[in-house]
Amino acid sequence: MDLESIKIILKKYNQEHLLVKYNELTEDKKEELLNQISNVNFEQIEELYKKSMKKEEKKDEKIEPIEYIDKVKLSKDEYNKYFSIGVEEIKKGKLGVVTMAGGQGTRLGHNGPKGTFMLGTTPNKSLFEILCDGLKRAKEKYNVEIPWYIMTSVENNKETVEFFEKNNYFDYPKNNFKFFIQGELPMLSTSGKVLLNEDGLVKLAADGHGGIFEAMFKNNVIEDMKKRGLEWIFIGPVDNPLVKMVDELLIGIAISNKTMAAGKSLVKISPEEKVGVFCKKNGKPGVIEYTEISEEMANKKDKKGELEYGESHINCNMFNIKAIEEIGNNKLPYHSAFKKANYIDENGEVVKAQEPNSFKYESFIFDAFEKLDKMTILRVKREEEFAPVKNPTGIDSAESARELYNKFHNIKKT
Ligand code: UTP
Repeated sequence: MDLESIKIILKKYNQEHLLVKYNELTEDKKEELLNQISNVNFEQIEELYKKSMKKEEKKDEKIEPIEYIDKVKLSKDEYNKYFSIGVEEIKKGKLGVVTMAGGQGTRLGHNGPKGTFMLGTTPNKSLFEILCDGLKRAKEKYNVEIPWYIMTSVENNKETVEFFEKNNYFDYPKNNFKFFIQGELPMLSTSGKVLLNEDGLVKLAADGHGGIFEAMFKNNVIEDMKKRGLEWIFIGPVDNPLVKMVDELLIGIAISNKTMAAGKSLVKISPEEKVGVFCKKNGKPGVIEYTEISEEMANKKDKKGELEYGESHINCNMFNIKAIEEIGNNKLPYHSAFKKANYIDENGEVVKAQEPNSFKYESFIFDAFEKLDKMTILRVKREEEFAPVKNPTGIDSAESARELYNKFHNIKKT
């Protein structure tokens, strides 16, 4: 679109400030800005802004606890049966792994994609290398090369790919890698204006881990998976060095249970813990966020004395390829978060954020669960599978994750 057509659109939606720095930009940047603006869906922006400004209406949903399988309570026979079913599928080359690495990692404050963060282990490894180790172990054990799909963002894709190149893909065969970029949405001011970055371009941010389904369709990832004959797709985070990239048991249980998806849970530490928990929403699998759960529900206990809503969602889920197709290419709902952002205001002045001042929009992967009829929930042990790297120090930090990682791997060695 040319400048004149863009001006008409901006006038219509009251977003004319987006050209405030236009005349100061280089020719390339001018073109980039016009391109960005022509890709903005201003109708959607108006809807999102309206949604941010009014209190979220409580949907009329019937929330119930969801059944789960406790890994530690499986008998030896059950465990072995499920495990060997999983092994067979893996050996047949039916497993693919997707890592969500498009987040900004703002809390960690690491300069670069989160997966490039060195955990400080001995030998010192990046999060990406630690995840790759899981695939290399499976290659050795089962003589199979599991494809690894890595979702990045516009912001971190180049650096991510360069990191793998520099590290020779950690000696895992290169043809098993596919990087794909997730979608973005503009950030908005409290008055609904699309924000301009300090460089005079539109301020865009990744559209949340729920953007994964749309991104997989758009970037022909699904097509590639089908071509390779994959059936089970594990989708996990980049920031948990204890994530089981290859879990024989999870596959075996999902198949035996005749479910098209399976998610891992951990026992919620306390009713107050700030985590989303698995539940049923109108009979379908779902996750209720800590901000949505009532105190009464959060504290409710079952006959065994356990929390009825106590299965924390840890972003480690597996889907049959058919389930992904069923979830489809549709957009998941967006949730708004109030974030700190520096930007250029309508007068061309730089605004430096001292506190949260703008809206960012994200969709969440677990909103897709409601599109499925059933899901197997497998409760696993915290110390075996969960070492989140969110903060530089303290709780869920690089420090705590390193300790958990070392402990788990040392235990395995003895
Ligand atoms: P978090 O929600 O913890 O976000 O991501 P984050 O970006 O890592 O950290 P903060 O909140 O900015 O400090 C959980 C997982 O989802 C991925 C992250 O990379 C991480 O693996 N994610 C998150 C994406 O891939 N894309 C997104 O847009 C958001």
